[in-house]
Amino acid sequence: MKHFLSTVDWSKQDLESLLELAARLKQNPWNSALEGRSIALLFLNPSMRTRTSFELGMQQLGGVAIVLQPGKDAWGLEFEHGTVMDGDAEEHIVEAAGVLSRYCDMIALRAFPSFTDWSKDREDSLIRTLAQHASVPVINMETIVHPCQELAMMMTLRERMGAVAKRKMVLTWTWHPRPLNTAVANSALLMSTKFGMDVTLLCPEPDYLLDKQFMDAAQTNTAASGGTLTVSHDIESAYAGAEFVYAKSWGALPYYGRPDNEWELRKKYRHFIVNEEKMALTNNGFFSHCLPLRRNIKASDEVMDASYCLALDEAENRLHVQKALMMTLLGAPA
Ligand code: CP
Repeated sequence: MKHFLSTVDWSKQDLESLLELAARLKQNPWNSALEGRSIALLFLNPSMRTRTSFELGMQQLGGVAIVLQPGKDAWGLEFEHGTVMDGDAEEHIVEAAGVLSRYCDMIALRAFPSFTDWSKDREDSLIRTLAQHASVPVINMETIVHPCQELAMMMTLRERMGAVAKRKMVLTWTWHPRPLNTAVANSALLMSTKFGMDVTLLCPEPDYLLDKQFMDAAQTNTAASGGTLTVSHDIESAYAGAEFVYAKSWGALPYYGRPDNEWELRKKYRHFIVNEEKMALTNNGFFSHCLPLRRNIKASDEVMDASYCLALDEAENRLHVQKALMMTLLGAPA
């Protein structure tokens, strides 16, 4: 049984097949490929795009999606083994995974990291524990990676650029008032290098580099794909000649769990906002972001409203790639 926890576990060829199916579904959105099938969507954190696109996507394929928010409208969950459950959680993931596997054909989970201890969070143990105890495919709706977003980003790029290999992409850190999850940045790095792009990771200083497991996986990807990975702390040279700028803000991992200390670092870097001046350095480059985005904090109004901004295309494509993913995981005829 195959899960979708991280694209690290999926071959480029299998990801290509997903993207090709997604493109066909975009042309013909409605079918009954998943009639009588169901998915449980477990949200431990808020969402707009992910929830809407999974619910609607399942409906467009004839199936049913059930949204559960543990701790709000469903019992709070405990994920640790051997814990004496005398805290807030009423239900252990072992039973929750077992029960939902009896009812549903797939389970998806959004579980952001705790922002307390990166040495623990980097193990991505919540979704891995769910996958261990589920007897149906498990989908990652964002933990320390966001593989569905990766698929949507790549689908959007291929629509606009055609072949993406050897095209220059800048994955830029952006300003934001507080440290955010590294998931989308990790995922953008994984996907772009897997598809052979020449990627520049632009961040203010080495403390903003991504976790070694993702930097190493990206290097491994480039060796297989013929792409490149360059780290830069220089805005002008990083943007120069780029064909695609992907923006995300994230926290400095050495300061993980210490936002007040991280602020002393972060407060110097408001100028990492994506604006027209920076985009003018690119080779008529496209821009995108996973959304949600704070305007005039991460990117200016002018960038978000420009014809080169693909953020809405990317958000739409979440719907198509996730439908392709659900059909593929359940072996539904394409
Ligand atoms: N990009 C994304 O996952 O959006 P939501 O947080 O709204 O689901």
